[in-house]
Amino acid sequence: MLSTLVVILAAATAASQPNTKIEALPRSAALPGDTPSKIALGRLLFFDPILSATRDVACATCHHPQHGWADGRPTPLGVHASGIGPGRKLIQGAAFLPLTRNTPTILNAAFNGIETGKPFDPAKSPMFWDNRVRSLEAQALAPIRQREEMRGDVCSEGDAVPSMIERLNSIPEYVKLFETEITADKVSQAIAAYERTLITPDAPFDRFMRGDKTAMTAEQQQGMAAFQKAGCALCHNGPMLSDFKLHAIGQTDSATNRTEFRTPSLRNLKHTAPYMHHGGTLTLDEVLLFYDRLMDQAAETLEGGDTSTLPPLDPLLRQMNMLPEDHAPIKAFLEALNSDDYDKSVPERLPSQPGG
Ligand code: HEC
Ligand code: HEC
Repeated sequence: MLSTLVVILAAATAASQPNTKIEALPRSAALPGDTPSKIALGRLLFFDPILSATRDVACATCHHPQHGWADGRPTPLGVHASGIGPGRKLIQGAAFLPLTRNTPTILNAAFNGIETGKPFDPAKSPMFWDNRVRSLEAQALAPIRQREEMRGDVCSEGDAVPSMIERLNSIPEYVKLFETEITADKVSQAIAAYERTLITPDAPFDRFMRGDKTAMTAEQQQGMAAFQKAGCALCHNGPMLSDFKLHAIGQTDSATNRTEFRTPSLRNLKHTAPYMHHGGTLTLDEVLLFYDRLMDQAAETLEGGDTSTLPPLDPLLRQMNMLPEDHAPIKAFLEALNSDDYDKSVPERLPSQPGG
């Protein structure tokens, strides 16, 4: 009787226990329809400010190769500003506030949602810090409609995409490149096809996992074990080091009161500081110190202390077990997830700026 109960309990625990495996990325994210001409068109669109109603913001304004395909800022500035990266400033007199969330890199966003041991469906790839949109294609139209990002006060949200199509139709080079009628679907499909080329599947970690035992240093290998032991892989697992699930880890978004955010990928952190959905955590040392405190808070909630003043916490945090001496090896392991081997090229000219 007791042994049956033990078996049932063990099975129940196993079922609720996440798969903490970490593994290499696939070598390619390309889909069958991603032809060279579609990718080339997507690249031009990605860099062209003509997509914004204000004509002054491109996707690449916030996702730029010089800043690891993010922007190196806590939170981005969209319309009515100039420059890129940390130096981007509002144009004098403009009254647009920065957005409230940190810009994620689009490197490897094509793999969002990929999990160990499960089929991967790019049409369901979760996008944004709260997973509110699915697929790169669906994501691509969101910034075009968003006021602070690319629309400004030039037109209504409903007119943002139709007016973008009109602007593209007024440029003969785009009319030619699209070959047939310009539609919102074709714009987003071209941008998504281009984004699927922006991947880093050959980081030292990937090469190590594929069998090159010299690809990671001894400290990095020790760090990988420490990362697992500390419980990081309860959430940061699979080929992207993310389960792509929402978790409450004690940070509240002041704009929306949201407490749950998607586990971010841990790839290319070298290029994407500052960290967290608010971009307020400047270094990886700070992140690790944050987790030290979080483990204490999670233990307090377990002990039934007065937690009324604390934000809600994911129960998985109680399984964490990081020691201060784990910080250095874990940081070394995170280095093995960085890669500089990605497309950093920028189009020489854009169809909206002939000769410019
Ligand atoms: C003003 C800066 C800005 C501009 C312009 C911008 N983005 Fe973003 N991008 C962001 C921010 C901030 C987020 C995260 C927003 C959130 O989670 O709510 C984001 C998220 C994304 C994501 C999801 C990444 C992930 O892992 O979830 C993709 C893909 C993306 N942007 C592509 C684009 C494309 C394509 C364009 C142009 C059509 C574009 N962005 C324009 C700032 C910008
Ligand atoms: C319960 C799930 C969970 C566990 C366990 C966990 N994380 Fe996280 N991690 C998250 C979530 C969710 C975020 C984003 C939170 C936010 O932005 O508010 C995050 C953010 C991060 C970031 C910032 C990344 C970025 O791009 O902004 C780093 C780095 C990080 N975690 C590393 C770790 C390490 C190292 C461990 C182990 C010591 C760990 N995490 C354990 C869920 C988890």
